[in-house]
Order: sequence, then C-alpha cells, then structure tokens
Amino acid sequence: MSYQESNNYSGRIRLFFALWPAREVARALHAWATAAQAVTGGRVTRETTIHLTLAFLGEVARERLDDLIACARQVRGRRIDLRLDEGARWAHNGIVWAGPRELPAALGDLAAQLETELKAGGFRTEKRAFKAHVSLVRRSTDGGGLPPFVPLAWHAEEFVLVRSTLSAAGPAYAVESRFPLCGVSPRGNSG
Ligand code: 2AM
Repeated sequence: MSYQESNNYSGRIRLFFALWPAREVARALHAWATAAQAVTGGRVTRETTIHLTLAFLGEVARERLDDLIACARQVRGRRIDLRLDEGARWAHNGIVWAGPRELPAALGDLAAQLETELKAGGFRTEKRAFKAHVSLVRRSTDGGGLPPFVPLAWHAEEFVLVRSTLSAAGPAYAVESRFPLCGVSPRGNSG
C-alpha cells in the first residue's frame, strides 16, 4: 500500500489554511525561485503550488472536516494588500522564501483570528509564531548571492482550506473550501 493509500484508509486528512496567489504573482515568484535555485541548489516549488500558509493543521480526522470549516467561517477577515518585498534564505532549514518586510495588519489579524477559532474548536495549531512567508526553494544548500528580489503586489480577497496528499513526487494540493475576506460574516452579521 502506498503512503497516499494508507493516508486515505486511515480516515485522516492533512490540511492547512493558506492564501493562494493570482497566477501572475505565482509566475513572478516562480521565475525568481528558479533564478535563486540556480545559485542555492535545492527543489523549486511548482508554480501551481505556491502559497502562503496561515495555519497548518497536520492530520485531521475526516469526520471533523465540517467542524473545521465552521470554525473558519467565524473569521471576519478583511481584504489583504500584501507587498512582497523580501527574498531570502533560512540557513537553519534551507528554505528560500519571499515575504513582506512589514506584516500588513489585515494579515496579522487574519492569522490571529484563525488561530483563536481553531483553538476554540479544539484543533491543534502551529506552535511557531506566525511569520508570513512563501516557501520557494526547499533543501537549498548554498546561501550565497541570491538574485535581487523585485517587489510584488498581492491582493488577497479570500483564504482557502487546502488538503495535502503526500507522495514520492511531492505534495499534491486540493482546495477543500474557500472563505471570502470581505469583513462580513457569511451569515451577514458583521458585528
Ligand atoms: P513551510 O512553507 O514553511 O514549509 C504545507 O505543508 C504548508 O504548511 C507549507 O507551506 C508549510 O510551511 C506549512 N507547515 C507549517 N508547519 C508544518 C509542518 N509541521 N509540517 C509541514 N508543513 C508545515
């Protein structure tokens, strides 16, 4: 039985919440990642899987999926205007990433609200402090001379719940649910 099959049979699914970029933002990030990887080595994130993680759940029992979605629907997010203006490498884990030098308040609020709602719903969340970043190269080995990073604007009007299926070819992602960032709760109660 493959890892993917055992995942399916176990009744648990691997999930995370994320912002997903528009195609042109993903394309620009992927182009920079490819240039960076030529210097650093490692594995470039596929253009179609580039994302910014808001909260990582790990393995969750399949029957809790509706509860999880209900928790996320409690979040009242606002549209996020994100300026990615930093491309760097973490030596401790070999990840080359892009992110904002300054965390927009709307993004900080979203991550904090989500964490609060997930905890209230009894879901285990990430222990690390939230650091907004997009992982672009993994397992890089050489930190010298990253190419210059040209700032990018990313406007997010929704966040998504994503299912990750692991395989030898790398993770495959599928969007389970979408949550608008419009400042109004789905029940029309903005207070
Ligand atoms: P990363 O980009 O910093 O590796 C899907 O795996 C997403 O969830 C990745 O973007 C990853 O962040 C994030 N994530 C956070 N904690 C994780 C963990 N313990 N294991 C795997 N992915 C994690």
